Amino acid sequence: MNCLGIESTAHTLGIGITKKEEVVANERSIYKPSPGKGIVPSEAAKHHSKTKKKVLEDALKKANIEKEDLDIVAVASGPGLPPCLLEGVKLAKKLSNQLKIPLVPVNHCIAHIEIGKKDCKSKDPLVQYVSGGNTQIISQSGNLYRIYGETLDIGIGNAFDKFARNLGLQMPGGPKIMQLAKKGENYIPLPYTVKGMDLAFSGLVTEATRKSENAEKEDIAYSFQETALSMLIEVTERALAHTKKEELLLTGGVAANTRLQEMNQLMAKEHQADFYVPKREYCGDNGAMIAYTGYIYREKNQDPKEVDINPTWRPNTYKIPLPK
Ligand code: ATP
Ligand code: FE2
Repeated sequence: MNCLGIESTAHTLGIGITKKEEVVANERSIYKPSPGKGIVPSEAAKHHSKTKKKVLEDALKKANIEKEDLDIVAVASGPGLPPCLLEGVKLAKKLSNQLKIPLVPVNHCIAHIEIGKKDCKSKDPLVQYVSGGNTQIISQSGNLYRIYGETLDIGIGNAFDKFARNLGLQMPGGPKIMQLAKKGENYIPLPYTVKGMDLAFSGLVTEATRKSENAEKEDIAYSFQETALSMLIEVTERALAHTKKEELLLTGGVAANTRLQEMNQLMAKEHQADFYVPKREYCGDNGAMIAYTGYIYREKNQDPKEVDINPTWRPNTYKIPLPK
């Protein structure tokens, strides 16, 4: 049983292939916005359209199979940027029609969780999903994923990127802020915005930018990072205490932040929970997570004609079929 998964929700065009549960290919091409700019959806979509043939060929070659050997095609049909999603869904429908194989729509956020669970051999974690566009604390309850807390404005990765851009640093800004923060020594007070179980980052970006004019770059980066990550840890800790989950899984592009890993590790330990971070290639957007989730959720196969993009698809609206 070979499943091909297509990821195209934002700047990554990823194509992965699984043989049963095993990942045998995970190829990608990433759209890079012009310097000083954020992602332009129509340009990202153009990038996906131009590179998909090559990425598909690379994935088949890596998996050492022919197109005709595929049994299922899965696609991340949301949430994401509409022009980007369209490219993925178009390719998925074409393959499904051509090869007469089922098409499985997959929720992008849930795919991050499923591949993380598989990679870390975690069964039922509380998940901190932190990327450019998404910031959610999620865990499974019955046959639904519940969102315990989330950002009310921008994703935490975008907050890092915006603040970095305001400091004159180029995309992606997250890793650069993290490096600067390591050398920071003085904490400069900044807005800490937790509303119930939810978070907001815009005010923090604005105020940190304003204060950066009269501060050392290292100090303001350190203060920004400590504030943003502490907000996230507060909400995650409350969710962990409430759900009594015994595992905490960190995933999404921001999982690469070593200070965030350290804070989570400490907090999980206090609650006797095991802490996990998947391999780097599974934290960022990738095609393998779509293939794997499509494979384990395949009983939800739909008529390809009914599969459409779903730009605002929330992970808590998807009834999880019990994995086979
Ligand atoms: P999604 O579509 O799920 O929102 P994405 O398209 O933003 O994801 P990812 O690869 O998941 O892509 O994440 C990229 C984000 O992670 C960028 O905003 C980047 O700045 C951030 N990031 C990467 N490394 C670090 C780090 N060390 N510290 C903070 N942020 C980081
Ligand atoms: Fe993602």
